[in-house]
Amino acid sequence: MAKAGIILAAGDGKRMKSARPKVMHAVAGLPLLGHVIAAMRAAGIERIVVVTAPAHDEVRAFAAKLGAQSVVQDKQLGTGHAAACAAEALGDFTGTVIVAYGDMPLVKAETFQASLAAREKTGLALVAFRPADPAQYGRVLLDADGLLDRIVEFKDASTAERAVTLCNAGIVAAEARAFFRWAARLESHNAQGEFYLTDVPALAKAEGVRTRVVEADAVEMMGVNSRAELASAEAAMQQRLRARALENAVGMIAPETVFLSYDTLLEPDAAVEPYVVFGPGVVVRSGATIRAFSHIEGAEVGAGAIVGPYARLRPGTAIGEGAHVGNFVEVKNATLEKGVKANHLTYLGDARVGEGANIGAGTITCNYDGFDKHQTEIGAGAFIGSDTALVAPVKVGAGAIIGAGSVITKDVAADALAITRAEQKEVAGWAEKFRTRKKTAKDKK
Ligand code: UD1
Ligand code: CA
Repeated sequence: MAKAGIILAAGDGKRMKSARPKVMHAVAGLPLLGHVIAAMRAAGIERIVVVTAPAHDEVRAFAAKLGAQSVVQDKQLGTGHAAACAAEALGDFTGTVIVAYGDMPLVKAETFQASLAAREKTGLALVAFRPADPAQYGRVLLDADGLLDRIVEFKDASTAERAVTLCNAGIVAAEARAFFRWAARLESHNAQGEFYLTDVPALAKAEGVRTRVVEADAVEMMGVNSRAELASAEAAMQQRLRARALENAVGMIAPETVFLSYDTLLEPDAAVEPYVVFGPGVVVRSGATIRAFSHIEGAEVGAGAIVGPYARLRPGTAIGEGAHVGNFVEVKNATLEKGVKANHLTYLGDARVGEGANIGAGTITCNYDGFDKHQTEIGAGAFIGSDTALVAPVKVGAGAIIGAGSVITKDVAADALAITRAEQKEVAGWAEKFRTRKKTAKDKK
């Protein structure tokens, strides 16, 4: 049966106390909303509609980038009202709709699949969980037969109801037409004066349509409402990503100190030393080592390469097979081909460095003139002496040698020596004479 996802993301996330929409806050380098969309996609839900607030262009742009549609909820009148707004995009949709909140970044595809399967058996399915601290979650009340009786929101719950530990995760699956019919009939006679999505099962029950409850893992169902909860979600996601990397035969002796992004790809037998941070868009090939205290984003590190300690790779970087990038080396939008060595204190930006070239300590590509970025090309096997400034645009031919301390402003031919250093002078005995003169003058005082 056709499946459509509805993600509620129009709330302003007051408890985050942020100028950014809550669902745009990132976990493992991806906005909360992105995680929910990805899990829906992985569950085979092709059509996804995100419910957004009028001011949140940023959320709509992000949803579009991930191939999801958006609708606008003019006023934030509650989760039920938000879900009803999706009818604008799905009014003629026949099939199953599955609703989720945009603030549950740890949700897995399997849970969406389980609730879709459960909904085939009865008309509705709901995902519940038992968090360590049930806090302010809505409470899930079951019938004697184990099906859902109703959900009661924390603020509306009696003391006895609050003692219930089964909580509403915020995932509902239902037949589309029936769902929108129920959503349109919700009322707001409750403690918050809102239209609650959580009242849909009671309306369905009144029509004889029962709700099955699927119980999911507590960590996975965590909702993010505050900075503290965002940090908890990040910690849980990091744990998941690290476990996955270890499972995939990545070497990490202190995984708890390594921070990964949602899309970090570490091949088997890559090694990551302690205290490494991966931003989005990183691939590390088999046999490569990322040494301690490195920061890497938007970069590919080739097989057997060594990066760090204390290296920084920025977006657009490709480090070739067996290349070495050492301490305090920054690389941005640059390709270092096979076997290149840049071992110390260097900046390579907007550059291509040919196979086997050696970049001496303190080499800087001067890529920016205050207005535009310019390219530096270094040929295969070239040797760049220490403390060289390469003023781009500039090309150094294959096999050329640049003398240490040079400022290179013109192209250098292959196999040539270029050196811009002032010639060295030597005055014999000068130092000895200088010391004698100074000492005599001091003794006279
Ligand atoms: C909600 C549930 C609660 C559940 C908890 C799970 C309701 C009424 N309550 O509470 O039972 O235990 O999630 O995490 O559903 N949103 C809109 N438009 C609105 C209001 C909210 O799009 O008018 C969106 C928010 O952006 C958010 C999601 O709906 O992504 C949930 O809203 P939130 O305010 O976080 O609900 P909770 O109070 O956490
Ligand atoms: Ca929430």
